[in-house]
Amino acid sequence: MDRDAITALAVRYQNVRDTTIRLCATLSPEDTVVQSMPDSSPTKWHLAHITWFFERFVLEEFVSDYVRYNDDFHFLFNSYYYSVGQMHARPRRGLISRPTYAEVIAYRAHVDAAVQKLLGQRDERDLVERVVLGLNHEQQHQELLLTDIKHVLSCNPLSPAMNSDLGVPASGTSGEYSYSEGRAGIRSVGARGMGFCFDNETPRHDTLLHPHEIGDRLVSNAEYREFIDIGGYGESKWWLSDGWSVINERGWNRPLYWSEDLISEFTLGGMREIDQNAPVCHVSFYEADAFARWAGARLPTEFEWEDAAADIETEGNLMESGYWQPVATADSRQFFGDVWEWTSSSYSPYPGFTPLAGSLGEYNGKFMCNQMTVRGGSCVTAADHIRASYRSFFYPDARWQFLGIRLAKDAAT
Ligand SMILES: [Fe+2]
Repeated sequence: MDRDAITALAVRYQNVRDTTIRLCATLSPEDTVVQSMPDSSPTKWHLAHITWFFERFVLEEFVSDYVRYNDDFHFLFNSYYYSVGQMHARPRRGLISRPTYAEVIAYRAHVDAAVQKLLGQRDERDLVERVVLGLNHEQQHQELLLTDIKHVLSCNPLSPAMNSDLGVPASGTSGEYSYSEGRAGIRSVGARGMGFCFDNETPRHDTLLHPHEIGDRLVSNAEYREFIDIGGYGESKWWLSDGWSVINERGWNRPLYWSEDLISEFTLGGMREIDQNAPVCHVSFYEADAFARWAGARLPTEFEWEDAAADIETEGNLMESGYWQPVATADSRQFFGDVWEWTSSSYSPYPGFTPLAGSLGEYNGKFMCNQMTVRGGSCVTAADHIRASYRSFFYPDARWQFLGIRLAKDAAT
């Protein structure tokens, strides 16, 4: 790599790292320690873990005499990489009151200085690829940090805002739900080999799309409210068997964060009135699937979604928009941003998939079981961190991410 490219990477490194800290600017140290459920992690843990990732997979591998900042951090902040050692139990991350927030910030500064020094001295391709992976990993955690703290604060009886300065979008219109004809036949899907991608987006390959139509926008709160009002949560005929069990066992009768009277919802900006025209969010796969069945439609497959999104600019209501909440719009098909869109595709390897070599092979491949693929990014995804081929994945009962619904249909024959 030439020096200019390395210098640009060093600048990007600092930008991404600084962005993470900026996201936390309105939090107190106390906020950053709480873990509200096993699926979510404390902010402080995220800050330390993404730093550990650079320490373990960049500094320890590319600096021969690097000495770990603190050996205990290797155990505390390893997430799930068994090939590099044991780790603290995920559901107990909220018990790590020490190291303190200030100590974690000092750890970040130490690792940042070492990475910058390394980039000032070396320029091999392996190193560059590893740093780029670390930055994309950090951007994934920026999103998780926001969704996790939203859950934490929602559990506080005072419903505190994470950031009371967040923009409040003007309520737009949503119009009648309409569909466009999708392309059918043999289509190529997967990463195109231009720029960074995760291993789970590869290899690009052919797939068969049957004649179908795909929704022109996301399903709105008003439309989802109709499903609630007709008693959708009380009629088993709309639900997958697993979904019916989950909603009854957990007493679900509305999206996560909606108030009981269905008037307001908890947001990162505190409690707000629900905008009826904004995309519904914080619904599980089971709820998305039931809504689609009630609406006489279905969820798109991940490949129908990708083929429709492939020609669309990756613009939308993303993290930089500053809303951190889905917004109503009549000007966009909403493929990117607002909410991750549930697809009917289970998260599986593509034909010929090979995980990354070594420990980082644990990054994606080992999760390819029992989860559903979601597409398109959300209102808390960084704008340069989303693309048409990007696959994220969640268990079908997950709701704490910004997860929403686009409809599709088989084409009339
Ligand atoms: Fe991670």
